[in-house]
Formats: sequence, structure tokens, C-alpha cells
Amino acid sequence: MSLTILVTGGAGYIGTHTAVALVEAGFRVVLLDNFSNSDFSAVQAMRSLVDQEVPFYEADCRNKSDLLRVFKTEKDQGFPISGVIHFAALKAVGESVAKPDLYKSNNIGGTECLLETMKEFGVHSLVFSSSCTVYGEPENIPVDELSPFLPSESPYGYTKQACEKLIVNHAEENAEFSSALLRYFNPIGAHPSAVIGESPRGIPNNLIPFLCQAVAKLRGPLTVFGTDYPTKDGSCIRDYLHVMDLAEAHVKAICYLFETGKGKGCRSFNLGTGTGVSVLEVIEAFEKVTGQKVPHTLGDRREGDVVAIWANAERAKEELKWETKRSLEQGLNDSWNWQQKLSGKSGL
Ligand code: NAD
Ligand code: WQD
Repeated sequence: MSLTILVTGGAGYIGTHTAVALVEAGFRVVLLDNFSNSDFSAVQAMRSLVDQEVPFYEADCRNKSDLLRVFKTEKDQGFPISGVIHFAALKAVGESVAKPDLYKSNNIGGTECLLETMKEFGVHSLVFSSSCTVYGEPENIPVDELSPFLPSESPYGYTKQACEKLIVNHAEENAEFSSALLRYFNPIGAHPSAVIGESPRGIPNNLIPFLCQAVAKLRGPLTVFGTDYPTKDGSCIRDYLHVMDLAEAHVKAICYLFETGKGKGCRSFNLGTGTGVSVLEVIEAFEKVTGQKVPHTLGDRREGDVVAIWANAERAKEELKWETKRSLEQGLNDSWNWQQKLSGKSGL
């Protein structure tokens, strides 16, 4: 019988893509979300891509009785949860500055409640969504997993550092527990079918969603935040990885936890391509692959931006047997196809 994996935040951008990858790898998948940044249409779209019934629970990770209901219902139906992939979190950096308490209670409180419930049900394997934001502005690039946590630039970043520490403490206190702490760099792209993708609410903060909306004329021109940085062309450098590659990393990570056995503690993994790309290079690559001009202006630096960061992802390659397979161009093209589908939906 297939093992059952609970995906929290399963209606979100990375959660839906990972759910598809899990089903394709032979797992039984259960989704949980409170729709604070998603809606049921994403669950339906995800379901349409797989040949399996995927149960969904509208539930909040901060609410113990919600979590107990999910774990108990699945167990009573003969499908005890074997492992959890925990995506559920609020992720808007700017909003976290305005609402730090909400971010702490949602992201840290939700993780605490999940760990307690997992313990009560004897579930010992957790894949956690962390972020390269835990490194702040690193001293050495590419950044590896041994780089220290620097004071976080935002309450959002603080919650990722705090959750990692919470999970490490939990592992120290619970001999059978193990966790993969996955530090993502910058996910882009969408499923190649354009059936699922990222649906930011309001004005996107992230580069690719804003760029796509600017090209679709849903927004004014993209502003390049800073062209006077000490980088190859003056704009900031990031490591953009395809969300399908990222989804596959989660499958490898949960398999790694099951295979390495109980009580292996926590292991952190950088997930990126290992290549740094500037904002101006992203614009150029997008124009080349889609044939669309990107309306843009050169603007001031954005407060709090890290100048340059990209991953040393050797540990994931060696221990998870994972590396990215898709190119930047594929990611940008898939983001654009997804945007066109969204624009079609809104009648534009
Ligand atoms: P997303 O907002 O699309 O998905 C997160 C989902 O979690 C949403 O559907 C939201 O409704 C749900 N959620 C939030 N709080 C919840 C709660 N208390 N209970 C139940 N559901 C809740 O975001 P995403 O881009 O898919 O990100 C997934 C995870 O990856 C997050 O933890 C995020 O911090 C992390 N991450 C994202 C990025 C990125 O750039 N997208 C980078 C690094 C890390
Ligand atoms: C990428 C580059 C901008 C928008 C954020 C979070 C981080 C992580 C990923 C979750 C930067 C530039 C952007 C625009 C621009 N999330 N840019 N014009 O800043 O690397 O990280 O998302 O963990 O925590 O902070 O991603 O997509 O916002 O920016 O020039 O309109 O694009 O300056 O160099 P970032 P981003």
C-alpha cells in the first residue's frame, strides 16, 4: 500500500506542484490549507493533473483540533499519515514588517502545533519549507549550509530561522524524529500544462510575477530595483530555480527521511541551481525565450535587498541525489504561459 503524505499549505504555489510530483512518485497525498493565500480552484486544478483521489481538508495549522481531525480521520480510514511536508506559512516580506505578530503566530505557532500533533500520532518524518532568507546577506557566495544565520532582514525571515531551531530542538527531544530543512532560493515557473502555477494576490512583490503582469499590461512597467550594485551589470543577483525541480526535491527529501531511518535528526539542504543571475539578465532571457518585450525602468534600490546570493547545492546533489534539470529559460517560459492563462481567465 502507498504511504500517505500530508501536505500542509497544499493549495499554494509550491504545495500544488509538490502534490503532483508525490502522486507521480507513487505516494498517496492528503492536502490541508486554510486558504489564507489560495483558494479551492487550485486544489481542483491540482486534482485534474493526477489519476488519484486527493483528499483535501480546510484546516488551520495553528488549530490543534483541526490537525487532530485530519490525522485521526485519515488513520480511522486506514491511511495513517507516514510523513508531512510543511509548506503552510505566510510569506510576504513587506506584510511581515507591518504585521510581525501575525507572522510569528501563523508560521511559528503553526509549526509548533503541527509538531505536537505529529508526536501524538507517532509521525516522525517532516520536510520543512525553509528559505535562503535565513542566511541574510552572506559573507561568502555561493552560500553553503554551514553559513551562519545572520540577523534576519524581516519578521518573515525571523520565522524561518525560528522554525528551523524549533524543529532541531524537537529532534533533540524526540529520538525517532527526523527532518529535512529545505532552504529554497528563488522558485519560478509553473507546471508545463499551465494548469497550476503561482497566483499572487494584489501587487506582486516578487520579480517574475510582476514582470509577467507588466508584459501582460496588467501593471505599469517593471522597476529594476537598483543598477548601481557592485555586480556584473549593477543589478542584484539571485538563484532562480524551476518550481518543478523544487517539487521533485521534496519527493527526494521525504524518501531520504524514510530511507535513512528513524532518529537521524535534522539535516538542512540548499535548493538552487548553483548559478547567480542578475535582474537585467532575467529580463534579457525572458525577452529571448518568449519574444515579448519587457517594459521596464531602471529605479532605486529596494530597502532590505540582499545584493547577491546563490546556492552551493552540492549537499542536495550528494545526499538527496537531486539537482535542477530545467533551465532559467524554461522557468520563464512556463511562468509566461501560466500568466497568459490567468490573463485569459480575467478576459484580457
Ligand atoms: P503560498 O502562499 O502559495 O502557499 C502557502 C499556503 O499555505 C497557502 O495556500 C496558504 O493559504 C497556506 N497557509 C498559510 N498559513 C496557513 C495555516 N496557518 N494553516 C493552513 N494553511 C496555511 O506560498 P508558496 O510560495 O507555495 O510557499 C510555500 C512555502 O515555501 C512557505 O512556507 C514559504 O515561506 C516557503 N518559501 C517560499 C518561497 C517562494 O519564493 N515562493 C521561497 C522560500 C521559501
Ligand atoms: C528578486 C530580485 C529584487 C521585484 C524574496 C524574499 C525571500 C524569498 C524569495 C521566501 C531582487 C528584484 C524584484 C521588482 C526588481 N521568499 N526585483 N523589481 O528579494 O530574492 O526574495 O522572495 O522565502 O525571503 O525576500 O525575491 O522576487 O522579490 O526579487 O528589480 O519589481 O528582483 O530587487 O534583486 P528576493 P524577489
